[in-house]
Amino acid sequence: MGFRLQRLGLVHANGLRALAGVTLAARRGERIAVIGPSGAGKTTLLRLLGTAVRPSEGRVEVLESNPWQLSGGALRRLRTRIGTVHQAPPLPARQRVITAVLAGRLGTWPWWKSLLSLAYPADIAGACAQLARLDLADRLFDRCDRLSGGQLQRVGIARVLYQQPELILADEPVSAMDPALADLAIQQLIAEATGRGVTLIASLHAVDLALRWFPRIVGLRAGEVAFDLPPVRITDALLRDLYASESATLPTQGGEPLRLPQPGAEVAVRRPACQ
Ligand SMILES: Nc1ncnc2c1ncn2[C@@H]1O[C@H](COP(=O)(O)OP(=O)(O)O)[C@@H](O)[C@H]1O
Ligand SMILES: [Mg+2]
Repeated sequence: MGFRLQRLGLVHANGLRALAGVTLAARRGERIAVIGPSGAGKTTLLRLLGTAVRPSEGRVEVLESNPWQLSGGALRRLRTRIGTVHQAPPLPARQRVITAVLAGRLGTWPWWKSLLSLAYPADIAGACAQLARLDLADRLFDRCDRLSGGQLQRVGIARVLYQQPELILADEPVSAMDPALADLAIQQLIAEATGRGVTLIASLHAVDLALRWFPRIVGLRAGEVAFDLPPVRITDALLRDLYASESATLPTQGGEPLRLPQPGAEVAVRRPACQ
């Protein structure tokens, strides 16, 4: 099991309700896209799955555990099995790309290896291989503050690929990328999840990306699950309803009008060779 949420609710400290009655489960190896307007609760949902916030109501199970019944040590170990891709990766400005990627395994390395790795990167080839998947191998020794927002997002993805977690949570992971790179990055996340049989749940602003790459689409609106369907069953009316509070046009990665997939349409996952 990837995760299971039952009648889950979350009220933020300021009294604002972000999630209400969310029931959602993912089998191991499932790939899910979460779409919905700004403020729908996508980030809160992923933070909940990442055990960064505690639910106000309902039940949460992640990788067969209830995180909030675990001891401190067991909760830390559970967190090393979960990989989170942040929309704006929280990378120290002066950190080098290689260190940022290797940090993906900091939680699982013994302390001496982590410490040593800060001065002498432990696994240059391993970090390079993951960056190469995102067409960023040439920036291995650059400082993070020399990179653009989209490049930083790719470093954040490479770090999680390097981590090899059992559950990948990606919060608008490609929002700062152009359509071609966004496709490449999503393909790599999908390839990783498929190849290792791990669960992937990604929130996406761009509806076209969600429909193109994910077999299961969860629409979130005002903290509630509006629909949970395969792409071929998503209609224009459902989407317009979901985004009724936003602009008249549905959000896509390149700003082009959305074309809904035809039933039976197949998309091949391309996996570029790693160096
Ligand atoms: N830390 C927080 N404190 C208070 N309210 C928050 C916090 N984080 C998010 N919210 C509110 O919770 C709701 C859901 O936010 P969020 O999960 O960020 O939505 P999304 O990622 O879909 O844009 C919004 O109304 C937002 O303003
Ligand atoms: Mg968000």
